[in-house]
Amino acid sequence: MKIIMLGAPGAGKGTQAKMIAEKYGVPHISTGDIFRANIKNGTELGMEAKKYMDQGLLVPDELTVKILLDRVAGDDCKGGYVLDGFPRTIPQAEVLDKALEEIGDKIDFAVDVDVPDENIINRMGGRRACLGCGATYHLEHVPPKKEGICDTCGRELVLRDDDRPETVKNRLEVYHKQTQPLIAFYQQKGILKTVDGTADRKDVFQAITAILG
Ligand code: AP5
Ligand code: MG
Repeated sequence: MKIIMLGAPGAGKGTQAKMIAEKYGVPHISTGDIFRANIKNGTELGMEAKKYMDQGLLVPDELTVKILLDRVAGDDCKGGYVLDGFPRTIPQAEVLDKALEEIGDKIDFAVDVDVPDENIINRMGGRRACLGCGATYHLEHVPPKKEGICDTCGRELVLRDDDRPETVKNRLEVYHKQTQPLIAFYQQKGILKTVDGTADRKDVFQAITAILG
């Protein structure tokens, strides 16, 4: 099963993608996580991506597409995957479709986690992320068992650089302009499914599993 998660920054794509990956036994692929891992390791790709991410801008398609296509060509992706944060532009979606078409494959569902902008601002300020395993927490809604420490891998939790309020505003603008058109794109293909992302994360997950089967 091949799934795309759509939704504004902070809508809960990562939270749900992680749960989907566990339940269906497919890899969770987040381009944001891949970039952050590269930044942490000081790679050339990481340095280049950081310039854009810190401003809340999208990393150019040329960089992003290659990384994603390499990743989904991995052996662990044969049984499917859940994409979180890719595609984010129409050209990215078209490249992915074409690559899949070439191997006689396609995306099964594009799940849009729908959350209004007002709710997003609050979520981002409270989010804490683990740079070790990519797990995300929220100071109020999803606190870790031990303050500041990841439940899964024991590493320190941080406020992402791009979760500062001024950057969040930019990310939302970029989302509306460049990413939201993907909703109509997948609707036309007949694979768009929308869930109410303002509900409790367990209820959001239930709505998603009802769709995926
Ligand atoms: P990326 O890492 O993908 O960030 P994003 O899309 O901005 O999304 P987030 O990770 O911020 O939010 P999320 O929807 O995953 O929400 P989460 O589950 O964490 O990308 C970062 C940057 O990398 C981009 O800005 C861009 O520069 C670059 N990039 C990445 N991919 C790219 C691409 N394809 N092309 C170009 N550039 C790219 O949840 C948010 C918070 O809410 C958490 O604290 C969580 O605990 C909490 N929460 C989750 N669900 C609920 C709920 N139901 N109720 C209450 N709280 C909840
Ligand atoms: Mg995420």
